[in-house]
Amino acid sequence: MNIMKNYLLQHIRKLIFATGIVIICSIASMVPMLLTQKLIDVGFINKDFRYIVACSLYIGIITIVKSGLSYISLKQFSNVGHTIVADLRSDIFDKLLRFPIDYFTEKGSGYLLSRLNEVSQISSLFSPNNVKFLTGFIEAIFALMMIGRTNTNLLILCCIPMVIYIWISMQTTKNYQKIINDALESDAQYTGKLNEVITGQEEIRLNNGKKQEQEKFHRYSENLKNKAIQHTLLLGGTTEILTLVTTFVSVFIYIVCGYFVIRNQLTIGEAIAVTQYAGKLYTPIISFSSVILIVQPALLSIKRIDEAFYKNVLENCNGNKTIDTITELNVKNLCYSYPSRQREIIQNLSFDIKEPSLCYIKGSNGSGKTTLAKILLKLIDGYSGEILINGIELRQISEQFYRNQCAAVSQRTFLFNDTIYNNIVYGISDVTPAHYEQAIRLSGLDKVLRLLPDKERTIIGENGATLSGGEKQKISIARALLKNANVIILDEPSNNLDKKSLYEIKCVLEKISHEKMVIVIDHNDIFEAVASLIINL
Ligand SMILES: Nc1ncnc2c1ncn2[C@@H]1O[C@H](COP(=O)(O)OP(=O)(O)O)[C@@H](O)[C@H]1O
Ligand SMILES: [Mg+2]
Repeated sequence: MNIMKNYLLQHIRKLIFATGIVIICSIASMVPMLLTQKLIDVGFINKDFRYIVACSLYIGIITIVKSGLSYISLKQFSNVGHTIVADLRSDIFDKLLRFPIDYFTEKGSGYLLSRLNEVSQISSLFSPNNVKFLTGFIEAIFALMMIGRTNTNLLILCCIPMVIYIWISMQTTKNYQKIINDALESDAQYTGKLNEVITGQEEIRLNNGKKQEQEKFHRYSENLKNKAIQHTLLLGGTTEILTLVTTFVSVFIYIVCGYFVIRNQLTIGEAIAVTQYAGKLYTPIISFSSVILIVQPALLSIKRIDEAFYKNVLENCNGNKTIDTITELNVKNLCYSYPSRQREIIQNLSFDIKEPSLCYIKGSNGSGKTTLAKILLKLIDGYSGEILINGIELRQISEQFYRNQCAAVSQRTFLFNDTIYNNIVYGISDVTPAHYEQAIRLSGLDKVLRLLPDKERTIIGENGATLSGGEKQKISIARALLKNANVIILDEPSNNLDKKSLYEIKCVLEKISHEKMVIVIDHNDIFEAVASLIINL
């Protein structure tokens, strides 16, 4: 609930205002019952038509005012609820952009998406039903007072059914919490599986994995189905039991009131009013179950959102030191191991690079090349040793400023479902046509564009699905070349490139390395000949 505290506090005035209106509404809704009693006991008995009309008019006016006020409070509550959800969503989105890259690897996109969708559930805390429950609760207290004022013995008798209702509510609540939690977990796993099946379609088909996936999917789906059935049965069962109990309770109240009327301890008007009050008395307990059905998932969602996005999530260290240019990089005794693994991937690595130069980092599969690139690009933290940029520890440098000076080509190119042009200029603010043309030419993308009817306006599909691996790689290289950065870090630029393209890229990088700091991570020895520093991992 801690995460909600700040959001609630921000809207505390609106909430107090709306609650105030709810209380006024509740009081107002008791008046018509009192008037009905007077109408019968005074108006009808004394055959006073003017009295009857006056009472009826008052009842009408009060009901209209009450409806108006109810609407205002409803508007306030729903406004606050949806604003809180929108704020929470933006807050989590900002957090996602700051989380360490490992966080995403660990949790999986499907799981995270499902958690993010749960945020919408929170607005149900402020749903009209809950507001009505609040009104009902206040009305019940008034009803208790009114019945007590009419007849104390009657009050005690009317309280007996409350025990039954409370017992049913407690049983429902207890079972519901477990069912909902299981259902949400099953749903998250199911979404995760679906996500994996959609993204991994090619692999599944190529490896004849259809049957295996179907079996797994069936298991997840069965689980989801069973939880849904349990949920529906609990809901339906509770409603049936409540309807049954309510019928018996009404009969019980009629008998009790009849008994008191016969013994002249209650007037007819009072008896009618008491049956109405009794209805109000049980409403909050009955609606408590349905409120719980709405509130509990929301509360559980808050807990799960808290666990997924707030608790135990270390945000990347983002320093506040600024740099305008990168001239020197010193790595001293760098060690790193992934939290989920014991093995130290990088052990006591030390090297120094000065601008301009071309540093070639090589190593076998799994030797830690990509890990090193991610550390140098401030994507993962948790290393020991020192990484000094112009003499300043990397952790102390502002991410924004650092990234302005670094261009990167990552091992796994990710492209947006947008035009080629927008993918190239992504994140670069000062694009001039001349620079753009140059980047296109140097990356070898000009030859690719010539073959496309829409040239750079071609939309490339999800993660560049309509392009070849080499073409995607060239877009990524073009972006890095276009960026006016001091340092270019390329993780396996030879990936997917043909011999000729690779040779051209090598020449381009060599040329650039006379002005900038170029770090090439690869296992293709073509770069060895042009490197001023070679590091073997
Ligand atoms: N997110 C991760 N969590 C745990 N281990 C990882 C993670 N990413 C990579 N590894 C492991 O770290 C080692 C180095 O990986 P990587 O740096 O990608 O190697 P490469 O030199 O091939 O680029 C590998 O053994 C890999 O299994
Ligand atoms: Mg790698």
